[in-house]
Amino acid sequence: MNHFIYKKDDLYCEDVSVASIADQVGTPFYLYSYATINRHFSVFEDAFKDLAHLTCFSVKSNPNLAVLRVLASQGGGADIVSAGELFRALKAGIPPDKIVFSGVGKTSDEMGRALESDILMFNVESDQELRVLDKTAQDIGRKARIAIRINPDVAPKTHPYIVTGLGENKFGIPVHDSLATYTLAKALKNIRVKGISCHIGSQLTEIDPFLDALNKLKALLRELQGMGLDIDFLNIGGGLGITYDDERPPHPGEYARALKETMGDSNITLILEPGRVIIGNAGILVTKVLYTKSTTHKRFVIVDAGMNDLIRPALYDSFHAVQPVRVTDSQMVEADLVGPVCETADFFAMNRKMPSFKPGDLVAIMSAGAYGFSMASNYNSRPRPTEVMVRGKRFSIVRARETYDDLISGEIIPEFIGEDKD
Ligand code: LLP
Repeated sequence: MNHFIYKKDDLYCEDVSVASIADQVGTPFYLYSYATINRHFSVFEDAFKDLAHLTCFSVKSNPNLAVLRVLASQGGGADIVSAGELFRALKAGIPPDKIVFSGVGKTSDEMGRALESDILMFNVESDQELRVLDKTAQDIGRKARIAIRINPDVAPKTHPYIVTGLGENKFGIPVHDSLATYTLAKALKNIRVKGISCHIGSQLTEIDPFLDALNKLKALLRELQGMGLDIDFLNIGGGLGITYDDERPPHPGEYARALKETMGDSNITLILEPGRVIIGNAGILVTKVLYTKSTTHKRFVIVDAGMNDLIRPALYDSFHAVQPVRVTDSQMVEADLVGPVCETADFFAMNRKMPSFKPGDLVAIMSAGAYGFSMASNYNSRPRPTEVMVRGKRFSIVRARETYDDLISGEIIPEFIGEDKD
C-alpha cells in the first residue's frame, strides 16, 4: 500500500497535489511519501516482532539523508557497501552498532573508517579481504566483528544482473570453502567471528529461494558450532520483491512467517537487509512532456527526464507504471515514453498504452523510490533532479536540484593545454 492516490482527477502524494509541487520545484523530480516509508518499515518490523532480529535498510537503494533519517527514527539499521554509505548512514543518525558492511571490494581505508566508527560487523567475501581486515584492525588497535558471506548457490529467479546467490556470481564464498575461511578467521588475532551472511538477489517474488539459502546457512551454523565458534547472527540479506506491474511477491508477513519457521527455536539474531520493499513504492519520478511525435512506426512521448535520472528500464528492461498527474478524458494510445538523452535505450516505457499525453502534461513514473535517484548520473551533462518528501499536507525539498556549476565542480583545465606546442 502506498500514499500516491487520485483525488478526483489529480494525483496526490498524501495530502499534497503532485502538480502543485511541480509548480514550485520544476521538473523532473523524485517524490517520496513519508507515510509510505514509515508504513512499509513498520509492516516489515511488525512481521518479525516475535523473533530476535535487526533490520538494516539497504542504503544503496535510496541513500538520501531524509529517507535514512525516517528509518533511523523508527529504529532501523543500515546495510552499507562503501565508506560513502557509512558516512551517510552516520550523518542520518543510524547508530553504528546497527550497521553491517557488505561488498566484494572493500578497501583498507574503508575498513579503517568502519572500524573507527565501531560498526556492528563486516560481511567478509574472501580470504584476502579477511587478511586485509585483520591487518587494518591491528594497525588501528581495534577488533573487527565479522560474518562470512556465503554464496549458497541457489537460483533466485530474477533478472540475471541482480542475481547474486548463484555459484557463478562474484559474491560470497561457496559453503564448502567457507569452513576454511572460518578456520582462518578464528585464528586471526584481530577478527571476531559473529555470524553467517548471504544475499541471494533482488526483486524476488517467491519465498523458496530464501528458505533454501536459510537452510544452507543453518546447516553451516551447526558445523561452525561444532568447531567451537560462537555464532550470534544469521544474515539473510535483502531481496524481497515489490509489485511494479502484475508481480505478486509475498507479503512481508508471509516472508517473515516462513523465515521464522525455518529458523526454529534458537538464540540467533536474524539480520535482514531490505531495500526495495521499503522504499520502491514509496517514491515516484515526476516528469513533464516536452514534445510528442509520430512516425510511420510509432508514437513517441518525449519527456524532460532521461535514462540518466532513472536507468532501470535501460539497464534491466524493467517495468515502471506510467500515470498521468492529471487525468483527462483523452483516450489511451500506444506510445514509447522516452527522454532527451542521445541513446535509443533512453526510454521509460515501450509500446505501452498510455493517455495521449500532450506537451506540458505531467507524467508520474511509478515505483521509482528504489534504485532511482541512487543510480542517477550526469550523462549528457544533465544536472540530477531534485528530491522532495511529503508528509501529510507539507512537503520539503530533501535534495536540491543540481546546478550547471555542480556539473563542472572539481574539473580542472590544466595550464599546459594553453601552452605552445612542444
Ligand atoms: N543486501 C545486499 C548485500 C545487497 O547487495 C542488496 C542489493 C540488498 C541487500 C538489497 O536488496 P533489495 O532488498 O533492495 O532487493 N539496481 C538493481 C538492484 C540491485 C540490488 C543490489 N543489491 C535494480 O534497480 O533493480
